[in-house]
Amino acid sequence: MRHLLGIEGWRREEIEALLDRAEAHLPGGSASSSVLQGRVVANVFFEDSTRTRTSFEMAAKTLGAEVLNWTAQGSSISKGETLLDTVRNIEATGPVALVIRHRSSGAPHLAARHVRCAVINAGDGTHEHPSQALLDAFTLRRRWGALDGRTVLIVGDILHSRVARSNILCMKALGARVVVCGPPTLLPVGIQQLGTEVAMHLDPVLPQADAVMCLRLQTERQSESFFPSTREFSRLYGLNAQRASKMKEGALVMHPGPINRGVELAPAVADGARSVILEQVANGVAVRRAILEVCV
Ligand code: NCD
Repeated sequence: MRHLLGIEGWRREEIEALLDRAEAHLPGGSASSSVLQGRVVANVFFEDSTRTRTSFEMAAKTLGAEVLNWTAQGSSISKGETLLDTVRNIEATGPVALVIRHRSSGAPHLAARHVRCAVINAGDGTHEHPSQALLDAFTLRRRWGALDGRTVLIVGDILHSRVARSNILCMKALGARVVVCGPPTLLPVGIQQLGTEVAMHLDPVLPQADAVMCLRLQTERQSESFFPSTREFSRLYGLNAQRASKMKEGALVMHPGPINRGVELAPAVADGARSVILEQVANGVAVRRAILEVCV
């Protein structure tokens, strides 16, 4: 594997091999912490990020690499420089991998065709966010042993979510049943073709879930109004304490972040006993260490 552009096309064994490798990258694990000694990994973020960027940086640094952090703000993008010129110029400074986030679907794929170093997709438009899906699957696998036969319910703005798309592909490949739930205007047409079931109403499906992944309204990716109001969305699709009490015993609450507290997820649930949200973040470093090790 040279690039990590998406989960699409991955076989179960390949995902499992990556997750097995990530186990060795957990704190105290057997993986070497110097595989990237003397190398540079470049974070190339055309879009904002908190978790993904810091997590890739932590992963690279704890493998011995130096990290170059490039962000669109303050760059020559404002002077009209293109995506390809930007990535080619960053590559010319010598990194072994470019970790790219971009608002356009397919941007890392385009970059990968024009550079020699590894390209890792850190989120492209509404398309894919493969490292997020791998860390989510890793978190559930560590909790459950395996995803086979488990029901994962993804709730919210599915239409604009690259996290949802990558997670559906990843969790289906690992044997889970995946149900997506949200307002009809925020469910992509034909999403069932990815092997997922669709639910318009949250309350009837909630008690079936072994894990519920809440997604925020990604208004920055919405070109028109998809929902009457945030309050209405929250009332129908928000995971509040009363709804969470209807979940199966032991069922987990996930969120890729950033949380819009009180909208898709109530603070008491986000910080409650079912939540594995910070576990997802911690596991993200081990998973990204494994990704860097495999790609570079
Ligand atoms: C997500 C993203 O950027 O796609 N966040 C993340 O990387 N953990 C989800 C989002 O923006 O809502």
